[in-house]
Formats: sequence, structure tokens, C-alpha cells
Amino acid sequence: MRSGPAPGGTYLLGDLTVNRIGLGAKRLGRDRDRAAALLRRAVDSGINHIDTAAFYPTYAEPGHEEHDFAALGWANDVIRRALAPYPADLVIATKVGPTPDGLARPDQLRGQVEANLRALGRDHLDLVYLRQHGLDSIAEHFGALAELRQAGLIRHLGISNVRPSHLAEAETIAPVVALQNRYGIDFGRVNDEILRACHARNIAFVPFFALAGPGRERGGVSESDAVVAFARSAGVSPAQARIAWTLSRGPHVLAIPGTSSAAHLAENLQAGDLLRLPGIGALGTGDSGE
Ligand SMILES: NC(=O)c1ccc[n+]([C@@H]2O[C@H](COP(=O)([O-])OP(=O)(O)OC[C@H]3O[C@@H](n4cnc5c(N)ncnc54)[C@H](OP(=O)(O)O)[C@@H]3O)[C@@H](O)[C@H]2O)c1
Repeated sequence: MRSGPAPGGTYLLGDLTVNRIGLGAKRLGRDRDRAAALLRRAVDSGINHIDTAAFYPTYAEPGHEEHDFAALGWANDVIRRALAPYPADLVIATKVGPTPDGLARPDQLRGQVEANLRALGRDHLDLVYLRQHGLDSIAEHFGALAELRQAGLIRHLGISNVRPSHLAEAETIAPVVALQNRYGIDFGRVNDEILRACHARNIAFVPFFALAGPGRERGGVSESDAVVAFARSAGVSPAQARIAWTLSRGPHVLAIPGTSSAAHLAENLQAGDLLRLPGIGALGTGDSGE
């Protein structure tokens, strides 16, 4: 059990305090027992923000293409088996929207929320993101989740895969506490505007693919000469440099690196201690045009 201050500090997600370094459940691997052990180790190490979804973990054979992956769909079940009864300070964020046939209709979202409640063994969900895809307006979908929040099934709402216009629209419907978009050193600065908008509105910005970068679903840590050189000179790993860089983008940025490895989990947690590395903020100022 880790004692002392959380590496990287904490953030108030709505009314829930989370450590800025959490865990993404998308990469829990293929073995449920190992995944359960990893989740217990994460919580014992001080992680109190787990990002999940009913369709996690996902898995791709090495060498497969970006979109050639399977959703195994047992992450919530393993989280419940490993961690329930849940520690009082544990925040589990989940997301709804995707179905095997594309984006859910607004009237299907209640069923998805209820499925998450059942699988996680909760009577309410701490944070639910609308993970949208291809909508110009998210008003109907987000409105459906706002009703579920009013009904007490959801404590806080977030949005994912969105543009600044979606954020503005959502805020006219219900409070948004977190926004989850892809963001990392080699993605270019396409999400800088929305990252700043989140800071100004006291909304957590929660980047995904911060390690995988353009490799996206393939996973792994994106290769970059600049990051490798920086990491070598600082005596840290490229993954740690990437996590520290994302945290350096603002006090409202939360890291949710995905891993199936206990060694990587420990390494990622230490990245919070690297925030003050000289030059960390200058990494990733180039624009790959991505
Ligand atoms: N809202 C959305 O649309 C969306 C989309 C994608 C992801 N997400 C969320 O965001 C989280 C993060 O994204 P992600 O998991 O896809 O990608 P990521 O965190 O950028 O990268 C994960 C990959 O990095 C590797 N890794 C992690 N730590 C490492 C370390 N210290 N050294 C070397 N390799 C390391 C992992 O492999 P190992 O298993 O070998 O460590 C895994 O392949 C997800 O888990 C999920 O919760 C949300």
C-alpha cells in the first residue's frame, strides 16, 4: 500500500478527488486472473481512478492493423470481481455510446448504463462519458444521459471524442466534469483548444492514446527520436516522459495509461514524480499534422 502524497497530485472531478495518474482498462490483456491481480495492485499502489467500458479490454494480434482488434468485453466484470466491495475513494469512469452496429440511439443509452451498473455491481456510476462518433449535435444523446443523472443512476457526466462545439452544447444541458479525447506528444496540437477550454471551465481533460500515439488501437509506446533522447538524458523511460508531458499540459489533465503489465503500472505511477523535469514541457511542441 502506497502512503504519502499521490505522484502527480490530485484533482477534484466534480465532488470526487482522484489522483492524477489513473489506469485505463482497455489494455488489461487476455487473461482475467492476471487482469484482476493487476487491478488489485493498482488500487494498492494508490490508483483511485479507473477508466473502463463495457466493451473493454480490446485485443489485437501483434502486427494487425489499427482497426483490426476485438472487444473482449469482460473488463467491468473483472473490476467487480477484483475490487468489490470497492474502496470508498475509488472512482470508476465508464463510457456509453458504441455498439457493434455503430453509435447507440439516445433511447438505447439507458440500457447501456444499466448494463454497466450490473456488471460493476454498483447502484450508481461515478462518471459516465458519452463516447460519441460522427454526430454534429450530441444534444439528444447527452440529454438522455442528463435524465439518467437526474434519476440518480449517474453521479457525473463526461463527453468523449468531441469538438469545442460539442462541449458548448453539452454544457447547456448538464454539467460536464470530464472530457476524453486523444492527445499526446505526436498527435500535433489539434486538441489544444479544447484542453484550454476545459481548464477555463474546471473540467478534467483526460487524454487517451497518450502513449500509443498514432499507433492507436495497436498499442505500444509510439516511437519518437526526440522522446527517446529526452528520456535517456533524464534517466527515465519514454513512457514516463510521455505521461509526465501530458500532466505538464495543465493541472486539470488526468493520465489513464492502459497496461497489462505490473512493471509498467509501477513505472507509469512514478511518472508523476517527473513533472518538474527541466524541458518536459517543451517536448511535443512540434505539429505532426495528425
Ligand atoms: N474515449 C475513447 O474513445 C478511448 C479510446 C481509447 C482509449 N481510451 C481509454 O484511454 C486509456 C488509455 O488509452 P490506451 O490504453 O488505448 O493507450 P495508451 O495508454 O496510450 O497506451 C497503452 C499501450 O502502452 C503500453 N504501455 C503502457 N505503459 C507502458 C510502459 N510503462 N512501458 C511500455 N509500454 C507501456 C501498453 O502495453 P503493456 O500492456 O505492455 O503495458 C499498451 O499497449 C484506455 O485504456 C482507455 O481506458 C478511451
